[in-house]
Amino acid sequence: MRTLVFGGSFDPPHAGHAALLAAAARALDPDSIVIVPAWRNPLKRRAPAGPADRLAMAKAGLLDALPPRWRARAWIHTAELSSGRPIYTVDTLARLSADAPKAELHFVVGHDAAAEFGRWKDPRRLRRLARWWTARRPGAGGRIPSFFSMLRSPMPAASSSEIRARLAVGDDVSDCLPAAVRRHIERRGLYGLGRLRTLRGLLGARRYEHSRHVARLAGRLARRWGLDEDQALSAGILHDCGRSVPATRMGRCARARKLKLSRREQTARLAPLLLHAYLSEDVCRRRFGVSDPAVLSAVRKHTLGDSRMSRLDRLLYVADSCSLDRSYPEASKLRALAFADLDQAYEACLANKLRGCLKDGSWIHPLSLSAWNSLRE
Ligand SMILES: [Fe+2]
Ligand SMILES: [Fe+2]
Repeated sequence: MRTLVFGGSFDPPHAGHAALLAAAARALDPDSIVIVPAWRNPLKRRAPAGPADRLAMAKAGLLDALPPRWRARAWIHTAELSSGRPIYTVDTLARLSADAPKAELHFVVGHDAAAEFGRWKDPRRLRRLARWWTARRPGAGGRIPSFFSMLRSPMPAASSSEIRARLAVGDDVSDCLPAAVRRHIERRGLYGLGRLRTLRGLLGARRYEHSRHVARLAGRLARRWGLDEDQALSAGILHDCGRSVPATRMGRCARARKLKLSRREQTARLAPLLLHAYLSEDVCRRRFGVSDPAVLSAVRKHTLGDSRMSRLDRLLYVADSCSLDRSYPEASKLRALAFADLDQAYEACLANKLRGCLKDGSWIHPLSLSAWNSLRE
């Protein structure tokens, strides 16, 4: 008896997963197919969608998408999802093997997971428990261990993280998500869709488009520099969410909300628009339920800067300064610099902003000056 086991986070399941499962089923002609959505990949910090949503999407996008011949032999193994904690694949496979000692287990995983196999728990035992299958995904990096059998079917270039990044900024994903999965995501507002709807209601069209541009660039920069892409996307899309308050009311609003900002009253009098980053942080907490200190810090510091700037703070500062919708002459050079050297790009963006203030003869907030001085010290 041959059992095909398909494991993954499926966050969300996409056309690549469906193609991989179908290719493995064709190659192996298994007696049963077990789809195992992980509660959370033990190598990752979090799963963006909750267990109930991922179960529903795995059913809609993988199980129900199988041709009837395979569908009749397939089921979803929910033990990992319902455990409430990360479970190692080696433990799931050991359990499947104990439940059906005569079954020959074949485990299929996507390209990225296969390339990370060396980091999985107990790789030797894993190799004893099952035979391993994967397929190359166009554009994916990483070396796949030689003991993996390769499925030769052509695979779509989709990856879950890229799809999440596209969903987070409201870009089209119809080419890589099964329609049933797309409907579920839309209905439940997953992967930032609900947040986008709220934001669209808060901001004018231009500011909303600007936020999408900033988030796109922030996501790409996070991938380039190995920062958390979901944090960069959240900070990028929400960084101006407090801009819905008119500049004339920002001072009053900052006072009413008791926002902590040095020289708050002076700022309210001389340059009230500068308060919007602190108002945005406040709206992030209250309206969007953001509690991640890294995201809140990046939003708070995206306009004035600060003497202490984390990598994410700098990344958002740069993404906001030179997103694709910025039309000043140096913007495209700064964007290119951001992919070559993020720190240099941050310094150049800060210098640019300070030069602009000097040129206009406008007041410079002490935080921006201390941000600049901290780079010289
Ligand atoms: Fe802003
Ligand atoms: Fe902005």
